[in-house]
Amino acid sequence: MDVFKAIFERRSVRHYLPKPVEEEKIIKILEACRWAPSARNLQPWELIVIKDKELLKELAKTAPYGRFIAEAPVAIAVITDPSSKWHIVDGSLLTQNLMLAAWALGLGTCWIGSMDREKAKSILGIPKEKHLLTIIPIGYPAKVKESHRKPLKEFVYLNRYGVQYFTE
Ligand SMILES: Cc1cc2nc3c(=O)[nH]c(=O)nc-3n(C[C@H](O)[C@H](O)[C@H](O)COP(=O)(O)O)c2cc1C
Repeated sequence: MDVFKAIFERRSVRHYLPKPVEEEKIIKILEACRWAPSARNLQPWELIVIKDKELLKELAKTAPYGRFIAEAPVAIAVITDPSSKWHIVDGSLLTQNLMLAAWALGLGTCWIGSMDREKAKSILGIPKEKHLLTIIPIGYPAKVKESHRKPLKEFVYLNRYGVQYFTE
């Protein structure tokens, strides 16, 4: 899929079909994660591919706005290393690669931001000193919601802050 098509058409997906995700697709998504840029190429990240239904259900309980993790056939936990100054930025870039690659393969994802991180870390056995950035459920979309964005003229300036780039 063309990169622009994936960027423009990707949506957060919160309902998944019970269909399993093919292993080749998981590997391709992981490769896309691997090639994300990172500050000084430190790659301060680790991933857990979660396929165990019981674990997915347990994790869903830690995320008030991510209960649908329980519905997904697979999820990926993105872990970063706070000893690296840019770990959240680097992990976020990796996650964007993950979400776009999944979409290009016909799969839906959703960034889960709010969760009881200590609880989720303990469920997954993540060491205390590591940061659990997000858990991304992945699955074939059962439903895709519309989305919207601010028009460019509301946030793009020319040369100096506040000077409209788009004047029409
Ligand atoms: C940092 C971050 C945290 C988010 N947390 C959640 C979340 O906890 N639950 C959820 O359903 N969506 C979450 N989202 C998804 C956003 O709600 C979604 O990207 C936004 O509404 C735009 O919709 P779209 O991705 O379909 O274009 C999060 C997105 C980001 C970038």
